[in-house]
Order: sequence, then structure tokens, then C-alpha cells
Amino acid sequence: MSRYKISNFEEYFKEYKKSIKDPKKFWDKIASENFTWYQEWDKVVDFNMAEAEIKWFVDAKVNITKNCIDRHLAKKGDKTAIIFEPNNPDEASQSFTYNELHQKVSKMANVLLSQGIQKGDRVCIYLPMIPELAIATLACARIGAIHSVVFAGFSASAVAARINDSECKMVITSDGGYRGNKTIDLKGIVDEALVNCPSVEKVLVAKRTNTDVQMKEGRDQWLAPLVEKASDNNAAEIMDAEDPLFILYTSGSTGKPKGMVHTTAGYMVYTAYTFQNVFNYEENDVFWCTADIGWITGHSYILYGPLLNGATTVIFEGVPSYPDFSRFWEVIEKHKVNQFYTAPTAIRALAKESLDYVQKYPLSSLKVIGSVGEPINEEAWHWYNDHVGGKRCPVVDTWWQTETGGILISPIPFITPTKPTYATLPLPGIQAVLMDEKRNEIEDNQVVGSLCIKFPWPGIARTIWGDHKRYKETYFSTFPGKYFSGDGALRDEVGYYRITGRVDDVIIVSGHNLGTAPIEDAINEHPAVAESAIVGFPHDIKGNALYGFVILKETGEKRDKANLAKEINQHIADHIGPIAKLDKIQFVSGLPKTRSGKIMRRILRKIAEGDFSNFGDTTTLLNPEIVDEIKNGKI
Ligand code: WTA
Repeated sequence: MSRYKISNFEEYFKEYKKSIKDPKKFWDKIASENFTWYQEWDKVVDFNMAEAEIKWFVDAKVNITKNCIDRHLAKKGDKTAIIFEPNNPDEASQSFTYNELHQKVSKMANVLLSQGIQKGDRVCIYLPMIPELAIATLACARIGAIHSVVFAGFSASAVAARINDSECKMVITSDGGYRGNKTIDLKGIVDEALVNCPSVEKVLVAKRTNTDVQMKEGRDQWLAPLVEKASDNNAAEIMDAEDPLFILYTSGSTGKPKGMVHTTAGYMVYTAYTFQNVFNYEENDVFWCTADIGWITGHSYILYGPLLNGATTVIFEGVPSYPDFSRFWEVIEKHKVNQFYTAPTAIRALAKESLDYVQKYPLSSLKVIGSVGEPINEEAWHWYNDHVGGKRCPVVDTWWQTETGGILISPIPFITPTKPTYATLPLPGIQAVLMDEKRNEIEDNQVVGSLCIKFPWPGIARTIWGDHKRYKETYFSTFPGKYFSGDGALRDEVGYYRITGRVDDVIIVSGHNLGTAPIEDAINEHPAVAESAIVGFPHDIKGNALYGFVILKETGEKRDKANLAKEINQHIADHIGPIAKLDKIQFVSGLPKTRSGKIMRRILRKIAEGDFSNFGDTTTLLNPEIVDEIKNGKI
């Protein structure tokens, strides 16, 4: 299925133009030529952006797992669908063919049905990165239950909040999970969460760590015996195109997490199309995305996108630093990975370590390497390009969000010339625009604006679970009629986009718009610096001034801090201009990060402002202890 594959730059422009001129025709063709439908659509798209009402493939009937699995069986039933690489490299990896995946998902679907789960019910999946996570997720989709995968690093209170928000009827978890040299008591966390979750009737427990757990009579059951007994014959529910496929929570900048709702057909078409084009997947390639299935990147590019294309996808249970910093490279070598997709935070962490870790492996199987989740700074881009991609593999810097379902802006490998720190061009179907504060479209180059999309695409989230008003207000009200991403971006002279960071991170200093990302780039290029984060704080004359939190490399730790601060500012002045110099620099040992690796700038902003009163919700922080350390360092 590569009838939608773009094969050269000219064709990209042609496809792009077609997709803008007649989006209906463009998506109609892709949808009808590449998928199995029970019934086709009456209308390709129906929308009212001002009201945030969007429907794709109206009245079509489909099941996404039929397209992820069953459709491939005739020709590639024996092809490997999933490779599971365990946390501990001494444990054997496993692989499942499409035939085996079909059997496992069908059995699991029948288990869910036998436990009273019906179409439309919500099921919370709180599992480590083990095959059961993929199987349970797909089994929900098969019977039309709405999966709500919660990253298995969230605390009991965060799990409870997510379960209650969407009133899940069931939780699927495991006795425990492995992450590096840690064992996590997942069942214990679920037990604690469920004290406050009246909607949950049943809990199914997979075995992973073989730890002793409490099983609550009448509520909890071991998964394996149920699966064993279940039939492997499951017909797959007939779903409407707009039936919800899943809910995935994303942290708002404030307040409670937003349960983004993705529906069936549009998400299917969009993840399949973008996977094929952004990663240049070719038959027999092995694709590895290092994200967790608990995040959108894992949903779209570990599971759905690859499986819809009949690809081989790797599920990795571990972390990049265990048993040592060569783990990623070892896994690439072991499974002959062709496409590798990871996050800048991981790249920076690995780049800090000795080059020997990566140079030990030839990595010659790699063809395309990708980045996602935050702006990739120039230094990390080059390290990735030089040492992982060997300057042969295009770096696809992919910009998108939980809300967008799939990648919106990215180079197409071997076609779009890459440019460090630029996500480059919108994919076909994506009508990106930059807006200024007066709500006018920005035409000029190198001017930072709010990145918006002015026409719907099939993968866009349809609502926030239980709160359509919040959905409309958050995404469709700032620039009426347009989807507002909350990110800032600029365009260069050829139309390439560079994402400058969240719009709330654009700081206006003396009337100049400064994105935090380019300043951080500049600082990070200083040889003594490992990582940094910039926030704004109020300043009497300039309006705002810049505050930098800087983590030093070991070499920097030994140096005189006052001199280093001067050098860093000189570096910024050299790279961006004196206007971007920092008023204050604080050297810290770490930055407050969410479990998905994002810096929680809201907290840094408060510290920079000297407001220590209330840091808001810090439950999603990976390292909450760092907050006090930074705060005390400031006083
Ligand atoms: C940021 C992850 C710069 C951005 C798929 C966005 C990026 C947020 C990039 C969404 C990129 C993601 N360059 N910034 N290539 N990719 N972002 O919902 O700020 O976890 O709004 O989705 O990550 O994060 P989310």
C-alpha cells in the first residue's frame, strides 16, 4: 500500500497544491484507494471551524484493526508485525507475525467482551511497554471500546483523575513494570488510584515482574487465563467514521488535563499517510519509535501508522541509559533498524556522554532518523546527524501535537532538503499560517507568529472529552476560524518553518520578539553547557527580561561561574544579538521536567519572578525535588 507515497520534490509541490485547491478530492482518493471500508462516505468533510465541529468521511463504516491487521493477512501473514525488545538485554526479544497479532488481538477482544465491555465504553490501559499494551489497545479498537492509555509513570492521583474524567469501566494493568534498574509497582498504584474511582468495575492484570500483588475479589483477575480460554475468532465491530477511537490526556498549560478525543476514520487515514511519507517506509524495513505508547507519538507511530502500512514496528521496554548509554545503538544494530524516531531530550542526554557509546556500532542499517516533541537545538541536530545518521540519513524534524493526531510539518526524507532546527514544509493537506497579535497573517520572513492551520485535516482531534466548550476556546477562539496550535514559528525565505517554542515562551524584550528556543540553542552550543531553559520575568524598562537556568557539563562545573556567565552572554550576543542577553543566569543541576521530557517552564517562570507561593500542579513532574533546589539556589 504505497499508492500515496510521494516520490520526488516536484511531486510534493504538485500534491501540496492539489491538496489545497481541492482538499476533498485529495483525501477522497487517498481514503478510497488504501483502506478497507464496510461502507464508504457520503461526504469527505463537513466542518465549521468557528464552532470547532469537524467530521471526516461522513457516514463511512470501518474498523481500524481490520486495516491494521486483517487486511495484511493474505499477503503478509507471516511478516513480523511487532518486535518486542525487553528492558533487560539478557532477556530474549520476541516477535509476532501479523497472523499471530491477529490471533492475540482477537482473543483479547473476546476477553473484553466476556467481561462486559461494549462499544463506546472507556477502558483505561495502564501498562508498561510490553506486548500486552499494544494488544489491549488494539483489542479495544476492535470491539469499539474507547481506549484511554495512561503512561505507566503517572502517579495514583494522576491515574485516578484520568479514569474519573472519562468514567472508565475497566483498567488493564500489570503486576509491575521494569524501567532501567527500577521495578515499578503498577498494580499497587492502580489499587491506590481506584479507592477514588467509582466507575471501575473490573481490573485485568498482566504478569510481567511476577511480584506479589493484592487481587481484590470480584474486581481483579489475571489476564493470561482469560486469554487462554478465549476464542481467537472475533468479527470486529462496525464503527462509524466519527465514533471515538481513543482519549489521550495532554497537560494544559494550567488546570486539569485535557482528554483529547480522536475518532476512527480520519485518524486512520492521516496516521497511515504521514507514516508512509515522513519515514519513507519500504517493505521489509524495521521501524523503531522510542516513545511510549502512553503518548500520542506512540499511538500514532508505534502502533497505528506502522501497522496500517503493514510495517515491522519495535516496542522497547527500556530506557536509553540502561544498562549503559549505548542501549539505543545496540538495539538498532541488533534488529537492523531502518527508521529511528526519538526526542531531542534523549539526543541531548546521549550527546553528553562519551562518543564511544555510539561509535561502537556501525548503525549502517539506518536510513531515516527522526525527532519529535520539542524544538531540536542546532548542536543536538548536528550530533544526531553526524554520529547517528552518519551524515547519510535525513533528519526528519517532525512538528505536531497530541491534538493533531499525526505529523503536520516535516521534511520528506530524500526529497525535502533538511535544514538544522527547521521542521521545513507542511505536509500535503496542511494549510499552515503564521498570525500576528492583531490577527493578521504574517507574510514576511523571519517574523515569529502564532502557528495556525486554516483548514481541517483528517487527523485533528474532534473535542475534549466532556468539554467541547474548552476545546473550542483553547484552539479555535484566539484566531477565529483557524486551529491555533499554541506554538510560535517563523518562516525562512524559501517557506521553511522553524518552530520557536510555545507561544507562551515567546518573550518580548524591549519590543523585540524573542523565542526561547534559539537562545537556548546558542547557550547550549557553549562547550561547558549541557542544557538550558530561558524564561521571561518582568523588567521596569524593557518590559520583560530574560532569566536563564543552565546545567553545566562536568567540565563546566569546575570553572569560575562569574566568568562562565559572561562567556554565555557573549555567546548569545554573537549568535543572536545583544538584545537576547540574559539579565540573570542561575546554574542548576537539573530542570523540572514532565515525564515526557518537557521542561515545565511555568515553574521556572515563577521562580524567575520570585513568586514562590504556588507552583500549581506538579504531579506530572519526573523530578519534583529539583524545584526546591532551584528555588533555594535563587534565594
Ligand atoms: C512541541 C508531541 C518543535 C510543540 C507529538 C508542540 C515540537 C508540542 C516539535 C506537542 C518539533 C512537537 N519542533 N516543537 N519537531 N514536535 N513539539 O502534544 O510545542 O506531546 O505544541 O505531541 O511539542 O507536544 P505533544
